[in-house]
Amino acid sequence: MGNSNINRRKFIATGAMATSAIALAQLGFAQSNSGNAIPKNSPNLQNRNSALPNRKLGKLEVSAIGLGCMSMTSNSYNPPRPKNEMVKVIRGAVDRGVTFFDTAEVYGPYTSEEYVGEALKPLRNKVVIASKFGFKFENGKSVGRDSRPASIRKAVEGMLRRLQTDRIDLLYLHRVDPQVPIEDVAGTVKDLIREGKALHFGLSEASLDNIRKAHAIHPVTALQNEYSLVERVHENKTLALCEELGIGFVPWCPVVRGFMADRFNEYSRFSDESRFTAVPYFTPEAIRNNMALLNLVRDWSDRKGVTPVQLSLAWLLAQKPFIVPIPGTTKLHHLDENLGAFKVAFTPNELKEFRIAFEKINLMGVRAPETVLKDV
Ligand SMILES: NC(=O)c1ccc[n+]([C@@H]2O[C@H](COP(=O)([O-])OP(=O)(O)OC[C@H]3O[C@@H](n4cnc5c(N)ncnc54)[C@H](OP(=O)(O)O)[C@@H]3O)[C@@H](O)[C@H]2O)c1
Repeated sequence: MGNSNINRRKFIATGAMATSAIALAQLGFAQSNSGNAIPKNSPNLQNRNSALPNRKLGKLEVSAIGLGCMSMTSNSYNPPRPKNEMVKVIRGAVDRGVTFFDTAEVYGPYTSEEYVGEALKPLRNKVVIASKFGFKFENGKSVGRDSRPASIRKAVEGMLRRLQTDRIDLLYLHRVDPQVPIEDVAGTVKDLIREGKALHFGLSEASLDNIRKAHAIHPVTALQNEYSLVERVHENKTLALCEELGIGFVPWCPVVRGFMADRFNEYSRFSDESRFTAVPYFTPEAIRNNMALLNLVRDWSDRKGVTPVQLSLAWLLAQKPFIVPIPGTTKLHHLDENLGAFKVAFTPNELKEFRIAFEKINLMGVRAPETVLKDV
């Protein structure tokens, strides 16, 4: 575990959808509010022609799995992909019932928002778009955090332009800026919501203290933090706080950047530009060590007749009914596999048995519990 926290702080940070009603109930899905009036500017999720269930983040209803759009453009795990191909992936996700799309000003920077904006423009009223502010840029590169009210307003104007929309459904603070009181950030977002430029407020990787302070100024709809079978630090206290305050939880890196898809082993090597090199659980030593978890997941996925990535996502979904993972992908066949997570149901005893087994594995390169109390 050694210096993993220091490194982490450096890191900017259907198929066949024949899922039975019983399996969905076991997974605790909120059903669509198809009988309710739709508030102004709310996406019309009723037009979905798919079996993909919905969940609630605070009062915001979204598909129970969203699509992360970071790696489409940001040189994080792969070279940026052509816009026309990614527009097809994003629209293909809508065809499959995905209504929740995650982007950020810093992805690219700017280009992920442009892709999302172009892809979703004709479908705007059917989807929920989430984006994030909180960095400053020089010469097209992020050069630190900036959440001053004027900077937030400027960022949001740019987002609206790039996303080709008049409102951001879920506007997150990407990382807490130590120079700006969280109350000032929450107050600015509250004003933007009053003006109709944003509809809901979110935070990412904020400390418990800052979550409470922000929520007191304006209700926080969602917290977006890293959470997966490998990175479980937020089981410490954050999930309980979300439950207490009625905040939804959106796990980022839910498939551990492809590790849970069985894509890597100790011989995998990454280019210096890729995000993998900044992640402590992607050193050869950590991968070798953490294979024990993947082996366990392989056993369970064989037992359930699904793939390791499906088992991993289903496990996340089974933790709390207000969890909505946003696996990132640039490929529709991977999206199909990920949406197949809804084929998996766990009994309470299976969840216990699985947890007892994975908690025996001493993972390497993961965050220490104290990080939950700080703004990483
Ligand atoms: N708030 C934050 O600070 C923060 C930080 C990081 C990310 N995020 C958000 O969270 C989203 C998800 O996180 P992430 O993209 O970093 O990590 P992730 O979802 O755990 O992993 C994405 C990687 O896994 C691969 N993958 C996905 N499904 C696969 C499958 N079925 N089979 C094989 N490979 C698969 C993708 O490659 P292919 O393209 O080849 O499918 C991609 O390289 C991002 O897109 C972004 O929107 C937020």
